[in-house]
Amino acid sequence: MDGNGRWAEQKGEHRVVGHANGVRSVREALVAATEIGVRYLTLYAFSTENWKRPRPEVEALMDLLVNTVVGELDELNNNGVRLNAIGDIDSLPKSCRDTLEQAILDTAKNDRITITLALSYSARWEIVEMARTLATKARSEGLDPSTINDAMVAEHLATKGMPDPELLIRTSGEQRISNFLLWQIAYAELWFTPVLWPDFRKEHLFRAILDFQSRQRRFGLIGEQITPA
Ligand code: FPP
Repeated sequence: MDGNGRWAEQKGEHRVVGHANGVRSVREALVAATEIGVRYLTLYAFSTENWKRPRPEVEALMDLLVNTVVGELDELNNNGVRLNAIGDIDSLPKSCRDTLEQAILDTAKNDRITITLALSYSARWEIVEMARTLATKARSEGLDPSTINDAMVAEHLATKGMPDPELLIRTSGEQRISNFLLWQIAYAELWFTPVLWPDFRKEHLFRAILDFQSRQRRFGLIGEQITPA
């Protein structure tokens, strides 16, 4: 969800105004995804590196998160949306953590779509955690290192139980991944748009999905193996 700061600065506003306007885009993306049957939507809301931003911006983002989750809870429940979070959740302020944990419990039975917020998340953090866990299991629980495979790694990532993303969208014209789901996006289709996140609307999501549908995903095979003549 990139471009909030630039969106605000272009309007002569504080960066935080951009984040606040980004909430509407979150809602639009979620409604659009739900309408067309997307089962998982994962939003990169706060990276491990974002902690280094000026303190007032970090605090404003945490407040926004709490207020948004509290304010949208009924709407999530009314629409079958399950809330989930990945990242170093223990590093979030207590009010944030408590709100999040309660909302996750309150929406746990919903099954139309799962919205996952990546908070204090980075893929390298997640991979280091996975390596530590497997190393500990090898040392203390008799895990045989030769049995470690793709599936076992995936089971020890924050996204355990979730399918890999099929489509990754990045807004604001930047064409990089910035430490997001590095393992999981091995075969994801990437879609970049110059639109700044607060301007992101349903039609942008639909455009991304239409583009996705026109691509041939080969997963390392050749075209004929995917669509035999
Ligand atoms: C990146 O834009 C965006 C963020 C670091 C925050 C995104 C958070 C929201 C949209 C609020 C969402 C709320 C919920 C509940 C999920 P940037 O600040 O890096 O923009 P810039 O690159 O233009 O400076």
